[in-house]
Amino acid sequence: MTKRFKPSQTFKSHEITDESVFSSRRRLLKSMGFVGAGALLSGSATARGWFDDDDDKPAFKAKPLDFTRNDSLSTDETMTPYAKVTSYNNFYEFGTSKDDPAENAQDFQVDPWSLKIDGMVRNPITLSYDDILNKFPLEERVYRLRCVEAWSMVIPWLGFELNKLLKLADPLGSAKYVAFKTLFDPKQMPGQRNPFMGGGIDYPYVEGLRLDEAMHPLSLMSVGVYGKTLPPQNGAPIRLVVPWKYGFKSIKSVVRITLTDQEPPTTWNRLAAHEYGFYANVNPNVAHPRWSQASERRITKGGLFSQNRIDTEMFNGYQEVAPLYSNMDLTRYY
Ligand code: MTE
Repeated sequence: MTKRFKPSQTFKSHEITDESVFSSRRRLLKSMGFVGAGALLSGSATARGWFDDDDDKPAFKAKPLDFTRNDSLSTDETMTPYAKVTSYNNFYEFGTSKDDPAENAQDFQVDPWSLKIDGMVRNPITLSYDDILNKFPLEERVYRLRCVEAWSMVIPWLGFELNKLLKLADPLGSAKYVAFKTLFDPKQMPGQRNPFMGGGIDYPYVEGLRLDEAMHPLSLMSVGVYGKTLPPQNGAPIRLVVPWKYGFKSIKSVVRITLTDQEPPTTWNRLAAHEYGFYANVNPNVAHPRWSQASERRITKGGLFSQNRIDTEMFNGYQEVAPLYSNMDLTRYY
């Protein structure tokens, strides 16, 4: 038996996310016929037994990484402890409950890995696992992460600017958007082979940004957290982090980045376009159709009874991105 991930402190999702919001988002999936049985499946000892059959594969072990700290782009707010960052996750490929990814992703193989950058570029490139970890000097940036479900964390990511990756590929002048894709591997990702466990999402998970958003210095490709390589549940070996947008834009375990002149499809928008827009900028003035976005529950050290509710800020407090949207009606382009 491989050793499963055990956070030093365990807690239930309802202790952190507003019960109403959490169940509301799950209710959408349930109404589509997916979550009920999925939650049952992913939480049951029997289901875990099914997914424990690759015992010869080594379980994940975080490795320390070299980095320099970028203070000017870091917040000094209290950081969310590692145990919570790595045990309260959204990664539906490994189950729809917050503790499913940490439970089900520990044997996820990230080496070998292949990240391809193609489409409307002069120089298409493919990076290996070692290229990804060694090619770019890493910075630590402490960013706020605001989930559309109205909880937030403060996380010290290790990574490099997405624009560095895109510049290597040399986008054509006609490229306007950047499309991202997560690995599709139903053998390793139980939620991809079982629609009940994966929330009925049409995999692979896909996301997109406008090219100017992707080139913004805040847009980060992250390979680590808290000084070490990313755990699988956080999107190993490489994920996107766009701190001024709702967390669902920050796509995990990326295998392909394609430059295009068309707005690319995005997973949550395809599932419920009236609830999740392409832009998904954090905006306290535009409510989700089923809950307010005016405030959020900040996940810090507090236990069961800590509320820690704070006001949500426009663009999650990253005002420097406002010029990207100066001519746009953000109630229409939510
Ligand atoms: N990427 C993939 N491939 N699959 C997912 O289910 N969930 C998104 C995003 N990226 C998701 C994903 C959502 S809804 C959020 S809030 C963040 O990942 C959560 O990142 P974290 O678990 O590292 O906090």
